[in-house]
Amino acid sequence: MPFFSQSTSFADLWPDIERRVDDIIRRGKYSHGNAVAELESALAAYTGARHVVGVNSGTDALVIALRATGLRPGDEVVVPAFSFIASASSVVLAGGTPVFADVEPDSYGIAPGAVADAVTPATTHVLPVHLFSQLADLSGVLAVAAEHDLTVVEDSAEAIGMRWDGTHAGLLGRAGVLSFFPTKTLGAIGDAGAVLTDDPQVGQTAAALRHHGRFGRTLDNFPGISHATEVAGMNSKMDDIQAAVLLAKLARLDVDIKKRALLAEAYSTRLADIPGVLRLPTVVSRSVPTSDVWYVYVIEVSRRDELARYLAARDIGTETYYPVPLHLQPCFADLGYRPGSCPVAERACGHTLALPLYPDLDLDGVDEVCDAIARFYTGRHA
Ligand SMILES: Cc1ncc(COP(=O)(O)O)c(C=O)c1O
Repeated sequence: MPFFSQSTSFADLWPDIERRVDDIIRRGKYSHGNAVAELESALAAYTGARHVVGVNSGTDALVIALRATGLRPGDEVVVPAFSFIASASSVVLAGGTPVFADVEPDSYGIAPGAVADAVTPATTHVLPVHLFSQLADLSGVLAVAAEHDLTVVEDSAEAIGMRWDGTHAGLLGRAGVLSFFPTKTLGAIGDAGAVLTDDPQVGQTAAALRHHGRFGRTLDNFPGISHATEVAGMNSKMDDIQAAVLLAKLARLDVDIKKRALLAEAYSTRLADIPGVLRLPTVVSRSVPTSDVWYVYVIEVSRRDELARYLAARDIGTETYYPVPLHLQPCFADLGYRPGSCPVAERACGHTLALPLYPDLDLDGVDEVCDAIARFYTGRHA
């Protein structure tokens, strides 16, 4: 059983994808074309964002969102110590300096108290990340941001479909992002991403930054903008073929999200009493209603790497999200962090393991994974 597969999903969607791709090939506009504009509108409708800017990847979306919200060289951005590397490397790529804060042990989201402790006079932004299946404590983060006049950019790369009191992830601060990397809840067949914002100025700047700084692209939502190159931009246009695949899959996203929740519930029931399984994922109850989405199912276990090898030997794929805390990554060595600076993140890196979870999977597949885990720890079936 692979860690991820979407071949069954593709079989169902194939006629729609074929029709859309055929149309792109006939029109001859392969990037930044009609399918991208259509996807942006469809994502605006799905998320409620006033502006959606399709780009080349979630990483580029973060760099662009940070720059479009005013990050300047030397500015400090508070980032959780437990996340994918792009949450922090994007800060460097945008010219800023990441400052790491520890996370909450249950949600793995940045701890608001740790954000407050990390603020210095150079801090301009905070970047909460919504990991795995739930949002970070946005009430806490927004309160600290308001107190210290920080701009909030959400790394909502994993968070499509998640909502905080009805507002979609990425729209609680000044800007947010989506990643459409193939394994994501809404995944392309290559790289793609998007910036989400309700702020027209951030939307305009993001649209310019993705296309060599040109404000000249004809965009229905930004009429009358000149062709001047006012900012040094990137080439981060989205491919139309990726947009076509995403449009076809977006129509089925909520069905896929329900299937993921069903599979996650089955995992939680079957893994409940296995010694060696130290922590099952729990969705933290917040001060407001939240909608959670099971992007990945991450457990904490003892002898994690040994278990992963045992499962791999039985053809069960797993992933380690994330093996090295960001503050101890070699690329940030000159920032001077030492082991012990962010203990919750460091502990999580040593124990977390993601199990297969995708709409192609069925309950028999979940049983097979749980049985194998039970046999590893107890010598018996689950
Ligand atoms: C939390 C987080 N941030 C950023 C990214 C970067 O997105 P991408 O892989 O599309 O560049 C990802 C996904 O890989 C992610 O999970």
